[in-house]
Amino acid sequence: MNENHLRMLASPQWAQLLRQHVLPWLETGGGLGDDVLEIGPGPGLTTDLLLDLTPRITAVEVDADLAAQLARRLAGSNVKVINASAERTGLAPNRFSAAACFAMLHHAESAAAQDRVFAELLRVLRPDGILVGSEGYDNERTQRAHDGDQFVPVDPDGLPGRLAAIGFTDVSVEHGEYDFRFRARKPG
Ligand SMILES: C[S@@+](CC[C@H](N)C(=O)[O-])C[C@H]1O[C@@H](n2cnc3c(N)ncnc32)[C@H](O)[C@@H]1O
Repeated sequence: MNENHLRMLASPQWAQLLRQHVLPWLETGGGLGDDVLEIGPGPGLTTDLLLDLTPRITAVEVDADLAAQLARRLAGSNVKVINASAERTGLAPNRFSAAACFAMLHHAESAAAQDRVFAELLRVLRPDGILVGSEGYDNERTQRAHDGDQFVPVDPDGLPGRLAAIGFTDVSVEHGEYDFRFRARKPG
């Protein structure tokens, strides 16, 4: 990630935006259960949010430095940080009550790579496990924030069809001011 983008994702302003706009949405969804996987935590302000909602988190971060920093910051908490790609986590199948990916998918190298991430999340979720996530809109502001970075936008209108094709059910997409949020379920 470029320096500015990384600084923003570690800032109090980002933490406040998450608490104002993402947390209430997460809280209205019926709970995330007892064992949550987060992919792409970055500096971990989204992990901090999840800590209020579940007793156990596994955070999978592909960037070795960010993974090491997060593991240090959250040492002694109930978060386990793993340095791996969300395309191949190496985690056991049918384990997690929920999987969360906030502002991560557009960093995948292609739409096919995003679909591999979805398939991996389906694999590691329990039957009836919940997928929750958010993504930014493809607009000038988001493109500018990703100057020099990977930016493969996710089309909110195409997402339900993609998730259903991979095997998710009950897909919903909610539009916010800055991003859209999605929710889906692994069939029971
Ligand atoms: C824009 S940051 C979002 C950070 C955090 N979720 C938030 O919203 O504040 C995206 C993060 O996803 C990570 N990432 C990108 N591709 C990944 C992959 N295949 N597996 C795991 N993490 C990935 C990046 O290294 C980066 O830390």
